[in-house]
Amino acid sequence: MKKGIALILTAALLLTGCSGSSASAGTQENTDAAQGEAAVTETETASADAAEKTDSQEPATAEANEAEAEAPQEEPAAASDTLVLYFSRTGEQYVVGVIDKGNTAIVAEMIAEQTGADMFEILPADDHYPMTYEALTEVAKQEQNENARPEYSGTLPDLSKYSTIFIGAPVWWGDWPMIMYTVFENNDFSGKTLIPFSTHEGSGLSGFDKKLEGACPNSTIGNGLAIQGNDAQNNQEKARESVSSWLAELGF
Ligand SMILES: Cc1cc2nc3c(=O)[nH]c(=O)nc-3n(C[C@H](O)[C@H](O)[C@H](O)COP(=O)(O)O)c2cc1C
Repeated sequence: MKKGIALILTAALLLTGCSGSSASAGTQENTDAAQGEAAVTETETASADAAEKTDSQEPATAEANEAEAEAPQEEPAAASDTLVLYFSRTGEQYVVGVIDKGNTAIVAEMIAEQTGADMFEILPADDHYPMTYEALTEVAKQEQNENARPEYSGTLPDLSKYSTIFIGAPVWWGDWPMIMYTVFENNDFSGKTLIPFSTHEGSGLSGFDKKLEGACPNSTIGNGLAIQGNDAQNNQEKARESVSSWLAELGF
C-alpha cells in the first residue's frame, strides 16, 4: 500500500512540475506516510490546483499583454449625463457642531459615487456667510425676508450635457437657501429631470420639490430625498443606505 502511495506521489510530482507549493505539499506527505489515502487525495488535489494555476497563468498573461497592446493608449472616461449640483456649509452647524465637510456635501458625494455623476458645488461669490451658527441663521433670515438673490461664484458646467440633475442644499428657514434661487433663475434647466435632496434637522424635504417646480416650470421634478444632517455627518452607513434605496427607486 505504502509503495503504491509513493508511486502515485512520484507520478503526481513528475506531472505537475516542481513549483514551490506543490513540492512542499509532496514533502509533507512523504514524511508522514501514515496519513493514508485521504492525504494522498489531498496532495493530488493540491498538485492539480497548482498545475491549473500554472497553466492558466501563462495564457492569461499573454492575453493581458495582447489586450494592452491593442487597447488605445488613453481612452477618455465615458461622459456622464448626470450632475450633482449642491450648496453646503462648513463651520458651526446645528446639532453636529463645527464640521470640516458640510452635511449636504457628504450626501452629494454619496449620490455621485453611486451614480457616476459629475459634481458641482455652488459657492457664494463673496463669502458673506458667517461660520458660527447663530450669526448664519440671522444672515439667512435676512436674505429670505428680502427675497435676495445672492451671487454664486464661477459658472455652472455646460448643462446641455446633462439630462438628470440632482440638486441639494440644507434646509434654511423651511426653504432652499436663497442662493439656490439665483442658480435656478440664472440657468436653463428646461427639459431636464431635476431631483431635489435636502439635509435638515427636522423639517425633511421642506417642500423643496414644489418650490423647485415653481422656479423651474419646464423641468420634470423627480422624487426627492431628505437626510438628517446628523446622519450624514455621524451615521454615514444609515445615510448611505437611504441614498442607495432612493437611487434604486429612481432607477439608478
Ligand atoms: C440658517 C439655517 C437655517 C436652518 N433652518 C432649518 C430649518 O428650517 N429646518 C431644519 O430642519 N433645519 C434647519 N437648519 C439646519 C440645517 O438644515 C442642517 O444643519 C443641514 O444639515 C446643514 O447642512 P450643510 O452642512 O450642508 O450646510 C438650518 C440651518 C441653518 C444654518
